[in-house]
Amino acid sequence: MKIGIINGVNLNLLGLREPHIYGTQVFDDFFTRLSAEFADTELHYAQHNEESKYIEQIQQWGRELDGLIVNPGAWSHQSLAIADALKSSAAPVIEVHISAVHQREVYRQTLITGAACKGVISGLGLQGYRVAIWHLIHT
Ligand code: DQA
Repeated sequence: MKIGIINGVNLNLLGLREPHIYGTQVFDDFFTRLSAEFADTELHYAQHNEESKYIEQIQQWGRELDGLIVNPGAWSHQSLAIADALKSSAAPVIEVHISAVHQREVYRQTLITGAACKGVISGLGLQGYRVAIWHLIHT
């Protein structure tokens, strides 16, 4: 099985950015661990700060892979274009938010992109990605 994780804007700064909210772990290190834990699964990872590149990645992996896990960051609350790209994915998509977005500012509580996904995981920290992989493997 082939699963792609696509992180969005500002998520290249995980480990450095607002560590009280997003933790101190660098995503590359976490991804290395995930790849070892799910050794029977072909895991892919990409991160983009440009919306057009993010959309192109969804278009490509949504056809090439068996499942997608997306965290579009702030675009989750704004981007109809990313929501449309997610709806076009042939592979099932799970959206993950590291923080508990529904406990934060009102403007983070609308998930335009999440509404285009099979399900949304929020507030479990990086563990949310692990739960999403587990779900895609076991359904
Ligand atoms: C986030 C939540 C968003 O509101 C925020 O803009 C992010 C990270 C999360 O993973 O908790 O960049 O998607």
